[in-house]
Order: sequence, then structure tokens, then C-alpha cells
Amino acid sequence: MNLDLSNKSALVCGSTQGIGKAVAMELAQMGAKIILMARNEESLRSVKAELSTSKGQQHDFIVVDFTKPEELKDKINRYVIRNGAVNILVNNTGGPPGGPMVLAKTEEFTQAFSNHLLCNHILVQTLMDGMIRSGYGRIVNIISTSVKQPLHGLGVSNTIRAAVANWSKTLSIELGPFGITVNNVLPGATNTARLSAILENKSTKSGLTIDEVKKEMLAEIPAGRFAEASEVANAVAFLVSPAAAYISGINVPVDGGRTGCL
Ligand SMILES: NC(=O)c1ccc[n+]([C@@H]2O[C@H](COP(=O)([O-])OP(=O)(O)OC[C@H]3O[C@@H](n4cnc5c(N)ncnc54)[C@H](OP(=O)(O)O)[C@@H]3O)[C@@H](O)[C@H]2O)c1
Repeated sequence: MNLDLSNKSALVCGSTQGIGKAVAMELAQMGAKIILMARNEESLRSVKAELSTSKGQQHDFIVVDFTKPEELKDKINRYVIRNGAVNILVNNTGGPPGGPMVLAKTEEFTQAFSNHLLCNHILVQTLMDGMIRSGYGRIVNIISTSVKQPLHGLGVSNTIRAAVANWSKTLSIELGPFGITVNNVLPGATNTARLSAILENKSTKSGLTIDEVKKEMLAEIPAGRFAEASEVANAVAFLVSPAAAYISGINVPVDGGRTGCL
């Protein structure tokens, strides 16, 4: 099975910690040149120094805040003009704040739509010509299992994730003829800062201790544990590899069997 990413470049968004960082580490290990993207320059420098350079790759980073889509457009355009095609795009950023849907402010929806869907779209529009010209294109969106089954207390997130999944499916149809695949990875509860925030939020709202909340969440996961970020990264790594050329337009849950539908 061909998992070699030598001579491929990969833009991995939200890659200073958690799932994005684990994806960047894995793709570098497979030979890709990584372009990290997030807000915190110091963390970007530090992750860059951790990436494998076993194939002689020279990694890069771009400091961007996804709450500023016009700035993202400008920076990614300039990067491509200076450095040429990017073959692999992993769309990922921090999740929207939690809370019941009925209490969500309208601005929370517009902000989440902008951070997730509009930024993803800007990146695809900027990178797709290079993918077509270079003969290699892979797009993976890190979304959530809420695409298949809404999660309690994550109203805005549930709504925006569905929009991103449908955007992605449509893209897979439009870009398929050019050899570009577009897929979604849906993490279940994964040991990252995002999960810690969710545990604390649930604990505050329910009056249960963090351990009690954890126990409740684990009871719903057949695997009986949370995922490690590297396990989500493994699914992304396969989907962006040459071996996955004929897989497009799908959702891949990495959730220990939690989602209660096919
Ligand atoms: N962990 C889970 O249990 C879980 C489950 C289902 C879905 N997900 C989803 O999967 C995605 C990744 O999750 P995670 O747990 O790895 O999240 P995380 O630990 O919070 O990491 C988020 C990453 O995104 C970057 N980021 C956040 N806001 C940004 C912004 N405005 N502009 C640019 N970069 C930004 C952060 O870096 P900087 O702070 O340096 O910008 C960081 O590198 C999220 O959408 C999350 O909701 C996670």
C-alpha cells in the first residue's frame, strides 16, 4: 500500500496542538513538507521544530486568525504565489463554543459559519488550481460526529458541522473529475484541550465532578476510552495518501463506535 508523501506539500490548519498537530506530525513522518497554520506564532515555531525532516523536507508556517477571512485570503494567496502548489489541504480549527441551541445568539452562528465554512472555502479556491496542475489533490475536513448524530449542548456546532459536510460532499462531486478527493474525518471524544473544555463546561452546568462527567461520556463509547489525537491523525493520513485515490465524498467517524447510526 502506497502511503508515501515524499515531494508532496500539505497545509494543515489548526496545527499548534490537538488533532491538527498530530496530523502534521504524521504527514511529515510520511515524507510531506508541512505548512502549519494557526494564530500563535511561538507555538507554530515550536511545532515546526518537532516535525520529521527524514526526507529532507523544509517545513513552513503561516500565522492566521480564522476570524479574519480576508486576511487568510491575502496570506494564502501570497504564500502560493511565492512557493507554488500545495497538494494536500487539511481544514481544521477550534470548535464553536458549547451551549444549547435555543440560547445561541445569531452572531454565534455567523461567526462559526465564517470560521469554519468560509475559511475552508477560501483555502480550497486558492489551492485547487495548484492541485490540478501538480496532478495530486487531497482535501480532508476535520468536522465532528455531529454530522451524523447531533451532540447534546453543542447547538451551534451541530448546525455548522452539517453545513461543512454538505459543502464538502458537493465539492467532492465537482473536483472528482480533476483527481482531487474530498473527505471528512469525524472525531469522537478525543484527548485534547477541546475535550478538557467540554468536560469542564459539562461539569459546571450539571454540578457533577469532572470524573463523573467523564464516566458518563465513557459509558456511551463501546471502546470504553477517549481517542488519542494520533488515532484521528491516522485516518487523515490514509485519506491523503496515494493509496486512497478512489475514496471520495465520505465521512469517516473515528469515535470508538459511539455514533448510533451507520
Ligand atoms: N477533541 C475532541 O474531542 C473533538 C471531538 C469532535 C470534534 N472536534 C473538532 O475537531 C477540531 C480540532 O479539535 P481539537 O480538539 O484538536 O482542538 P484544539 O485542541 O482546541 O485545537 C484547535 C487548533 O486550532 C487553532 N485555532 C483555534 N482557533 C483558531 C483561529 N481563530 N484561527 C486559526 N487557528 C485557530 C489552535 O491554534 P491557535 O490557538 O494557535 O490558533 C489549535 O491549533 C475542532 O473543530 C473540534 O471542535 C474535536
